Amino acid sequence: MYVLGIETSCDETGVAIYHPERGLICHHLYSQVDMHNEYGGVVPELASRDHIRKLIPLIKQTLQESGLEKSDIGGIAYTAGPGLMGALLVGAATARSLAWAWGIPAIAVHHMEGHLLAPMLEDNPPAFPFVALLISGGHTLLVQVEGIGRYQLLGESLDDAAGEAFDKTAKLLGLGYPGGPKLAELAEQGKPTFKFPRPMTDRPGLDFSFSGLKTFTLNTFNNSPKTDQDKADIAAAFQQAVAETLSIKCRRAIKQTGIKRLVVAGGVSANKQIRAALSALAALEKSEIYFPRSEFCTDNGAMIAYAGCQRLLRGEQQNLEIFARPRWPM
Ligand code: KG4
Ligand code: ZN
Repeated sequence: MYVLGIETSCDETGVAIYHPERGLICHHLYSQVDMHNEYGGVVPELASRDHIRKLIPLIKQTLQESGLEKSDIGGIAYTAGPGLMGALLVGAATARSLAWAWGIPAIAVHHMEGHLLAPMLEDNPPAFPFVALLISGGHTLLVQVEGIGRYQLLGESLDDAAGEAFDKTAKLLGLGYPGGPKLAELAEQGKPTFKFPRPMTDRPGLDFSFSGLKTFTLNTFNNSPKTDQDKADIAAAFQQAVAETLSIKCRRAIKQTGIKRLVVAGGVSANKQIRAALSALAALEKSEIYFPRSEFCTDNGAMIAYAGCQRLLRGEQQNLEIFARPRWPM
């Protein structure tokens, strides 16, 4: 069964086709970042309008390049949440309508389940069970994963998500949007000479808090001479603090669950220093570690096609409701 996957939860229009035996057949991503850059962040209404413009042409292109006919598609998976309501509705309404017109099932996919399963698209996918660290712009979650749909939340951010903290900190330093990759680039030119806190690591538990780091950055920046080197050093200190905080919590999660297999996914998992810190931790704990390839760390249609395919194979499908949930616990 070929499954068409559609992702429109935020500022990327993603479309992909996945087949359980043949793997990922084709995928395309259209990013709106240039449009939102002008405003310093995602403008929800503009995001929805752009998904409307881009989604159908992207579906046509993906079908054409895959060499498949629409009659070959056996199911449609779409991101139903969490995300921006208008943006989600574009994907949900398109997916639901196409599925109805083509007489095939549609399946609503949780965006974070998509991220969680993204490493399954690689040649050497993780086996179950594993501990997943999901670090994106909207969420920071530690999850114990026993199988598809068998997720137990171990910890989460009580305030800003890791990506959100990167983006807000980047804004404070006058870097553009999206701030995460820009801050990471600047951090490479700096040294972590400033001492930043490792939030919530001095008490037990697996929850996170990143909003304090942003305030700490602001105060450090205000009290520094503000040279280019200072900025780079602040970026490096911030990034190191996030990387170390994530490693400390992952180490705890491995010890608490006894599961020596770690999956790291979501936009922030593209960060080189965070990958290095978590890989070092995995080696120390004699654990396996898995990341998606960089292009599947951030939002994409492939992870949604994969997650939806797994659910469709288990016989799950939805009624004709156009299902979209801006807030949706996993
Ligand atoms: O998973 P994602 O594409 O979207 C959400 O589901 O939120 O994650 C986007 C987040 C943004 O906050 C972005 O700044 C961050 O991931 N990000 C990074 C890097 N690449 C993307 N943060 C740090 N370093 C990076 N290299
Ligand atoms: Zn995402």
